[in-house]
Amino acid sequence: MGNTARHIAIIMDGNGRWANERGLKRIKGHERGAEVVRTITIHASNHPDIEVLTLYAFSTENWKRPKMEVEFLMRLLGNYLKNELPTYIKNEVRFETIGDLSRFSPALRKQIETMKQRTGHFKKLTQVLALNYGSQDEIARAARNLCETGKEIDTENLEKSLESAQFGPVDILIRTGGEQRLSNFLLWQSAYAELFFTSTLWPDFDPEELERIIEDFKKRHRRFGGI
Ligand code: IPE
Ligand code: IPE
Ligand code: MG
Repeated sequence: MGNTARHIAIIMDGNGRWANERGLKRIKGHERGAEVVRTITIHASNHPDIEVLTLYAFSTENWKRPKMEVEFLMRLLGNYLKNELPTYIKNEVRFETIGDLSRFSPALRKQIETMKQRTGHFKKLTQVLALNYGSQDEIARAARNLCETGKEIDTENLEKSLESAQFGPVDILIRTGGEQRLSNFLLWQSAYAELFFTSTLWPDFDPEELERIIEDFKKRHRRFGGI
């Protein structure tokens, strides 16, 4: 009994600190972080409640990082997509994205498109990678599109215009790495999300911790403004 963890969203933070603590370069933390993405995705696909897992991989603000790090993250994403297709097929995971992909290279965009096409029919889990994603950018784009249709600007129509609307409201929002902020992630869809902040750095996050969070979530009293 209790609440159902249908949609879990995670701000995967702490890769750089994980590496620094070990005297490694930041990129080693991102490499390890990508492995954790795989582990958590497989776990979520086998969980009876989870239908959607949205992962914040690259924000609209992350372009401010040193060019070397941004380029490494792009390469890492490309390699991940190249290597992990069998994992998605084996575990029946549909791959999706939110965010403005127009800033990515044509080659990377093609890889993303191929991954979506090859996994589009799977139903066990939808994994949504947030890539060049910012909630403010998403809401501005939705408002622009809605204006062009001439429809009334109300919450219902605006929500329908959001790219993330198709994946529904967030039930559990987790941020690893100890910071307690949203950093422009899913502001609209998290209106009534239950928030969990853990000091665990993303490369150390594991299915056991996810399960503890889900157990805690089940016991929370969600009122949605009622009594
Ligand atoms: C999160 O880890 C991954 C991305 C934003 C791509 P960080 O790279 O932000 O790691 P910290 O916060 O510096 O430790
Ligand atoms: C949020 O982490 C973005 C991602 C996890 C992709 P950041 O490390 O970029 O956030 P701030 O700068 O600490 O708010
Ligand atoms: Mg960070």
